[in-house]
Amino acid sequence: MDINKEILNLDWKREPYGLYEPIEYTLAAGGKRVRPQLAMIASQLFGGKDEEVLPAALALEVFHNFTLLHDDVMDKADVRRGRPTVHVKWNENTAILSGDQMLIEAYKLLSGVPADKLPKVLQLFNKMATEICEGQQYDVDFESQEQVAIEEYLKMIRLKTSVLLANALQTGAYIAGADERAQEVLYKFGIHIGLAFQIQDDILDVWGDPKTFGKAVGGDISCNKKTFVYLEAVRRLGDEAMRRKIKGDEARPATEAKSLEKWYSQVLEDNTEKITAVKEIFELLDVRSACEKVVEDYTRKALALLEQLPQNEATEQLRQLANKLNTRKD
Ligand code: IPE
Ligand code: IPE
Ligand code: MG
Ligand code: MG
Ligand code: MG
Repeated sequence: MDINKEILNLDWKREPYGLYEPIEYTLAAGGKRVRPQLAMIASQLFGGKDEEVLPAALALEVFHNFTLLHDDVMDKADVRRGRPTVHVKWNENTAILSGDQMLIEAYKLLSGVPADKLPKVLQLFNKMATEICEGQQYDVDFESQEQVAIEEYLKMIRLKTSVLLANALQTGAYIAGADERAQEVLYKFGIHIGLAFQIQDDILDVWGDPKTFGKAVGGDISCNKKTFVYLEAVRRLGDEAMRRKIKGDEARPATEAKSLEKWYSQVLEDNTEKITAVKEIFELLDVRSACEKVVEDYTRKALALLEQLPQNEATEQLRQLANKLNTRKD
């Protein structure tokens, strides 16, 4: 089954156009379709029927796109998938209301799963949806919180990003009739690839190629997001060994730390200078390769979990997807 085609086949030609056109615009813009793919593959892993998991797969993609509409307002992001975001092309009210409608449409789609499976599918979906809101709130809180511990950051990205991937996998497996233990393993796999996925997203936000990334590079820096890249830079600035590594200038790390602190205490209209300066500090500290290593570590942990599951074509597809996501450019 071609999941992308199924998503594009959803019909949004309805009145009022002001409400439905932005939904069509968003879903037609593409995207990697990771979540519905995960649901479909998880179902196939246990011999499930594609048409039984399809309503959940579609619901997950519509739900994901709903979170993006609101996320782009919250993050003041002007570009997504190489196009103006809904709040820019239309306005903020549109992003709020079309987003709300997408959430409702997601529930309508979800209710199409086999009736005997619906109660648990709904319960899992509701838990996930609440967790995403919690993650998004921490993400925003951290913008103005001076110090964020790595554990706090990991909890935040588990909530805002991982649980959706994990839910897609568990839901697909559950609908296909997988037992509790297998569902749990897949859920954990989803959490780990989700952590890798969000850290990779944090990396791309600094070093991505604007053409392939489809979003504005430096957006996280502009918002003072406490991303993994930022936290790793702060950690390195406090690291004695790093002090010694930056040779010839004893005062340099202290200067860089002050500078990073200064930039991250400001909210600016024009962020060009800030993005360049902060990026320079990240590069001086050689943060990128350290972050990439963490992405690989989480991916490796995820892949190890797959050993506990049946081995067939679907397991192989999960392996390929996990590897592809951690080296992606978009
Ligand atoms: C964007 O998700 C939000 C994050 C969790 C980083 P994707 O990177 O999956 O976005 P699309 O759907 O492919 O555009
Ligand atoms: C993604 O976080 C989390 C959700 C949208 C729920 P980001 O804010 O990093 O996602 P992008 O970078 O805008 O896609
Ligand atoms: Mg965002
Ligand atoms: Mg965000
Ligand atoms: Mg991001």
